[in-house]
Amino acid sequence: MYNVRKVTEDLYWVGVNDKRIDLFENIFPIPRGVSYNSYLLLDEKTVLFDTVDWAYARELVKNVETVLDGRDLDYIIINHMEPDHGASLEAMLELYPKAKIVSTEKSFMIMRQFGFDIEGREIEVKEGDSMNFGKHTIAFVEAPMIHWPEVMVSFDVTNGVLFAADAFGTFGSLDGKLFNDEVNFDRDWLDDARRYYTNIVGKYGPFVQALLAKAATLDIKMIAPLHGPVWRSDLGYFIDKYDKWSKYEPEEEAVMIIYASMYGHTETAAQALATKLCERGMTNVVMYDVSRTDTSYLISETFRVSHIVLASVTYNLGIYPKMHNYLMDLKALDIRNRTFALMENGSWAPQAGDKMEEFLDTEVKLMDVLNERLLVTSAIKDVNEHEMDSMADSIIDSMEKRRESIEKFGK
Ligand code: FEO
Repeated sequence: MYNVRKVTEDLYWVGVNDKRIDLFENIFPIPRGVSYNSYLLLDEKTVLFDTVDWAYARELVKNVETVLDGRDLDYIIINHMEPDHGASLEAMLELYPKAKIVSTEKSFMIMRQFGFDIEGREIEVKEGDSMNFGKHTIAFVEAPMIHWPEVMVSFDVTNGVLFAADAFGTFGSLDGKLFNDEVNFDRDWLDDARRYYTNIVGKYGPFVQALLAKAATLDIKMIAPLHGPVWRSDLGYFIDKYDKWSKYEPEEEAVMIIYASMYGHTETAAQALATKLCERGMTNVVMYDVSRTDTSYLISETFRVSHIVLASVTYNLGIYPKMHNYLMDLKALDIRNRTFALMENGSWAPQAGDKMEEFLDTEVKLMDVLNERLLVTSAIKDVNEHEMDSMADSIIDSMEKRRESIEKFGK
C-alpha cells in the first residue's frame, strides 16, 4: 500500500509519518511523532527531492514506485544530508541505478562519510546554479547551518515552490493533513514548530536571517519543508515567526517561572510570585517544574516569553543540577535578549542565586538580571512578603519599560 498526496499538478508528496519514534535525534521527546517529507516531480525528467529516515525506506520506495508508474527516476536532489532525510538515498541509488544526485560539495563529502557509493553519480551545484528538467527550472540557494553546513534549499522558479530543507519544519505527524490550511496551525502546531525550530536551529539565528534575506528576493508561492505541513497560504505568518525567533525577539510579553524544588518549599514560593503577578494584571504566566519538564520545552518557552524567573534550591553548594542543565542549553543555543529574576532557597549556605547570576552575566549574551532577588531560607515566611512584592513590581516595571522602548525604538 502506498500513501502519497498531490502538492501541485505534477508534484507529489511521497514522504512518511513516524509515530513510532520517541526521541527525535535521540534527545527530544516527540509525543506527536514527526513526518519526513520527500517530494517527487514528474516533468520531462523525474526528480526526487530528499528521502526519508532509513526506518521508513520501504514506504518511500513504495510511494515513489507508485507515482513514477513505470517511469525511471532521473535525478535525486539532496537538500540536507542528515540521516532523517538522507539515509534512504542508499536504497534509491540501488533501485534506480541511472539516477544522478544533485547536491552541494559538502553534502557529497557527508554521503561518502556515511559510506554511500555515489561515484560517477554526483552533480555538484552551488549558490546561483540552476537546472532545467523540462517545464520546471530549479534554482539552488545555499543555506548553511540550517541546520548542517551542507544544506541548500531548492526553488522552483516555474511555480514558486520552495523546497526549504529543515527550515519551516515542525515536529508532529501529518496524519493525512498535508497543507497548512488543513490544520489549525496556531492552535495545534505552533508550540511544536517553535520547539522544533528553537532546539534544532535556534543556535543559528544569524544564518536563518541570511536565508530569510535571500528568500525575500524570491517569489515564493509555496513552502515545502522536510518536516510538517506544506505552506500554500498565509506564508507571512510563519515567516514572521522565523524572523522573530532568529532575531531572538520574544514573541509575547509573558513570564515563565522555572522552579527547582526538592520538598515543595521553592515551588510554593514560585506559586506565590505567580499569584502576585496575576494580581498586578500580568496573567500571561506559565510555571514549569525543571525536574519534570524536558529541557526542550523550557527552551521553546524561553523563545516565546519576555521574562523568566529562575527559582532554585542550592544543591551541593551550587545550582540544582537540572536547573544548571537548562542554563547550559541556554548557552549552547546562544539565546539572548531576555530579562531574568532570581529566587533562591538554601537551608544553611544559599549559593544558587549568586551562581545563577554569575552564569547569566558571564556565560550568555545580553541577558538582564533584575536587582530584586528573593532569598528563601528553607521555607517561605511572612517576612518574605515584602521582597516578593518588590520582585513582582520590578517585573511589571521592566515590562512597561520594554513596551516604551519598543514604541520609541522598535525594540
Ligand atoms: Fe530534519 Fe536536520 O534534519
